[in-house]
Amino acid sequence: MARNILEIKELYKSFSKGKYGKDDETYNLLSNLNISIPENTISALIGGNATGKTTLFNILSGFLKEDSGNIYFHNSKTTNLSEIPPYKREHLGIGRLFQDNHIFPTLTVLENLIIADKNVLKGNPFEAIFNVKRVKESEKVLTQKATETIAHLFGKSHELLSKLNDKASSLSFGQKRLIGLIRLFMSDYKLVLLDEPTAGINPALNDFISEIIKQMVLENGMTVFLIEHNMNFVRKTAHNCFFLDNGKINMQGTPSKVLGNEFVQKNYLGV
Ligand SMILES: Nc1ncnc2c1ncn2[C@@H]1O[C@H](COP(=O)(O)OP(=O)(O)O)[C@@H](O)[C@H]1O
Ligand SMILES: [Mg+2]
Repeated sequence: MARNILEIKELYKSFSKGKYGKDDETYNLLSNLNISIPENTISALIGGNATGKTTLFNILSGFLKEDSGNIYFHNSKTTNLSEIPPYKREHLGIGRLFQDNHIFPTLTVLENLIIADKNVLKGNPFEAIFNVKRVKESEKVLTQKATETIAHLFGKSHELLSKLNDKASSLSFGQKRLIGLIRLFMSDYKLVLLDEPTAGINPALNDFISEIIKQMVLENGMTVFLIEHNMNFVRKTAHNCFFLDNGKINMQGTPSKVLGNEFVQKNYLGV
């Protein structure tokens, strides 16, 4: 049995009902939520609209504060995430795919891929300026790494390979999503959070997206926790599935078990 990399215990989060944030009227969005994510697996969180899935991810990455409960991240040591600010969570090894894919439109596709590599940003920036040779060399290595990664994941004739020197703004939304995912693939995050990786994407790209996610786990030893509405994608991609309903995990197991469950079918899938 794999150990758990993330454990969410008795998590509560409420929001104010009113538009103006009057705190006398609140409702519990997440209410005694418990989830354990096994290391080196792909786990999918499913549930109806506005059930709190994105809110949970915002809490995990530190953009929102839980009302109560504990979140343990087990990497080389165990950290209780509650008091850790967002940027430090990234340093601990928790990465996230953003809705806009965090693409810099005026940089080239290649620059977008290598800029995120922590090796480029490591060390003193002044040292980097004076030590041009070292930077050039690492740039060369990173360029090769980026090119090889795309060829390895998608094949040597994938269209992205001919667009490496194009401005990122020229990419389609789906291609930007691929770049965002490849960047995470090339990172050294241990846990990667993906909020609806296939949303708004041409379905022809879904297999590529599924493939990167699988290889994050198989090759890089990462753990992926994703939110998805595309159930075919969940079946094809995830090892575990968690059904969020009424603030807590109502059902969990393999995708076929959870998606085959009568309650899930009636209350979520509309079968
Ligand atoms: N920062 C916030 N302040 C107030 N309400 C919020 C905030 N973030 C989310 N909500 C509310 O919480 C509910 C769940 O939102 P969300 O987590 O985005 O749902 P899901 O991702 O499951 O569709 C929504 O009704 C949303 O309006
Ligand atoms: Mg959402």
